[in-house]
Amino acid sequence: MGWQEWVRTVEIEPSLYAADFSRLGDEVEILLRTGVRVFHFDVGDGHFVEPITMGPIVLRSIAPVVHAMDGAMDCHLMVDNPVRHFPQIAEAGGDSVTFHYEAVDDVPATIAVAREHGLQVGVAFNPESEPEDVAKVAGDADIVLCMSIHPGYSGQEFMEGSLERIARTRAALPESVHVQVDGGIDNDNVRAVYDAGATLIVAGSAIFGREDLPRSYRRLVQALA
Ligand code: DX5
Ligand code: ZN
Repeated sequence: MGWQEWVRTVEIEPSLYAADFSRLGDEVEILLRTGVRVFHFDVGDGHFVEPITMGPIVLRSIAPVVHAMDGAMDCHLMVDNPVRHFPQIAEAGGDSVTFHYEAVDDVPATIAVAREHGLQVGVAFNPESEPEDVAKVAGDADIVLCMSIHPGYSGQEFMEGSLERIARTRAALPESVHVQVDGGIDNDNVRAVYDAGATLIVAGSAIFGREDLPRSYRRLVQALA
């Protein structure tokens, strides 16, 4: 199984970074029952990004809950030296690993190492990197993640210029590679993000900590209908 099976036409991916960790299993189950297929799991190391977020120990607890209902764990590594973490992510139940273009010297070689661990692979890039430069080296990945915020925290505002960068990313990559967008997605901009070419749309604060979870997830899905 991989991204080609997980993605219907477009997927809204709840970012667990914004979840209530005292109720993590419950929140994940509620969302799976509402139709979520893939969860976004943010690993921050306190170096590549300011905060330390969560890692393989939390992943190990939550991945079986997700897998039991045929879901997948999409792990976004906002870390220096990501290769060092691939074995633990795979062992803990990660299905896909996304590393940052800015964090490695050799993107194709890093993609190859992730595949050796049986992982699907993504390449993420920050707002300062040029989509065309990333696309030149990321064509063998399954997904390319165009950040629409500076990575680090949930709840930031969608950066101006992101729609144009998403469209440039889509145009520069082979059709087989999904374009993912992460940061500042809400009910008002989700449709434009899809129209610009994204087929994987991450949403943290737009889903968690709102009215009820099914309603906030469905509202994003409906904006794409
Ligand atoms: C932050 C993470 C995001 C974050 C998104 O750097 O990569 O996945 O959780 O949260 P929102 O949707 O609230 O911007
Ligand atoms: Zn993320």
